Amino acid sequence: MNYPETSPESAKLYDRAKAVMPGGNTRTTVYFDPFPIYAVRGEGCRMWDADGHVYLDCINNFTSMIHGYATPSINAVVRDQLALGTAFGAPTPSEIDLAELLVLRLPSVDHVRFTNSGTEAVMMAIKAARAFTGRPKIAKIEGAYHGSYDYAEVSLDSTPDNWSNTPASIAYAKGTPQGVLDDVLVLPWNDIATAQAVIAEHGPQLAALLIDPLPNRAGLIPARQDYLAALTKAARAAGVLLIFDEVISFRLGYSGAQGLLEVAPDLTVLGKIIGGGFPVGAVGGRADVMSVFDPTRGKPALPHGGTFSANPVTMRAGLASMQALTPASFERLDTIGETVRQGINAAFARHSLAGVCVGLGSLFKVHFTDQPVTDYRSVYPNAEARRKLGIFHMALLNRGILAAGYGLFALSTPMTDSDITEIIIAVDEALAEVSRQYG
Ligand SMILES: Cc1ncc(COP(=O)(O)O)c(C=O)c1O
Repeated sequence: MNYPETSPESAKLYDRAKAVMPGGNTRTTVYFDPFPIYAVRGEGCRMWDADGHVYLDCINNFTSMIHGYATPSINAVVRDQLALGTAFGAPTPSEIDLAELLVLRLPSVDHVRFTNSGTEAVMMAIKAARAFTGRPKIAKIEGAYHGSYDYAEVSLDSTPDNWSNTPASIAYAKGTPQGVLDDVLVLPWNDIATAQAVIAEHGPQLAALLIDPLPNRAGLIPARQDYLAALTKAARAAGVLLIFDEVISFRLGYSGAQGLLEVAPDLTVLGKIIGGGFPVGAVGGRADVMSVFDPTRGKPALPHGGTFSANPVTMRAGLASMQALTPASFERLDTIGETVRQGINAAFARHSLAGVCVGLGSLFKVHFTDQPVTDYRSVYPNAEARRKLGIFHMALLNRGILAAGYGLFALSTPMTDSDITEIIIAVDEALAEVSRQYG
């Protein structure tokens, strides 16, 4: 494959899309220049595009398709549900089944509420924290992505020209109201002293700390356990809730990242893998906090609807997906993840390229830098790093490996040892190509 020359069908589809969508696009994350490749089919860990190219899929719909595509056990329950009806103006037993599984796996979660996306679940978690505490502000980590809710996306892409010692609250989207920026405090990652100082200063105004324990866009650098312990202690003392965004990190273990890191957040946000390939989100947590949603005593403190929330197709697909994720599945994902990380770091050394592969479990990310990677600022790519990432991404695509344009990879359960070898070889060749141009 030699993209874009060998992708005429995708080019034609993109031309059609341009006539009916802004820039031909309805999802910013899947666009790349000059046009994205269009998917037509997936099976196991492979995806086929409109030109008949097949890819070993290392992004699996941005980490959500942990079992890959067309998984027989998931398809069986979905087919069954299609024949029974896909969405009702009434609850279904399937939502209880999935909620029971989540409550069993997450000791910090007593009650669960479903939504249709992670964005919506983050939004509801923030609103729940505000409703429960009666406080207006939240704090989040610089560079961390939590979906498209105005408050959650503050300082998602702050740039060196607006970096100050304690990160400023920077609008991500044009048109963000000043009131939103005033109500979001931004913290540097894994920095105990700043977090303590901000909580001490703003505690009485602060409803919640929003933390992704493995923040992808901020570098995929895991939370340190001492950081989380200090954060939890300071938050508890100030009556501030800890919200864990495990939309991605729930794929790290049987009880998610909170199980690995031994943290009991007040609220947990889930998404992606719990929908078995269908749109989903969930917020769960302590019963007293979650009671803000309870309608049994009149209007709840926080009313929440959602026409397709907890629809039975998503609930049943999600249950089948989660049931197939046993402790052994996570061990296997950890093993193959570590193998690939080591393989990629060895390739960086072999090609004398400045760079590192970081991550945990089935998730990993490549950074083209010679500096220690510790937080968003330390991995912020300069112009050369951006060009290297572009070459790397294209070199992988042309070798039949699909990864996120910004260097994120996610492995899936159908991957065999030979698939893992194929990934390492392709990355090695892609890094060789970067090295030829930049070495
Ligand atoms: C950590 C995190 N939180 C929230 C979201 C938003 O989820 P969704 O895309 O389902 O709205 C994402 C999406 O990638 C995410 O990575």
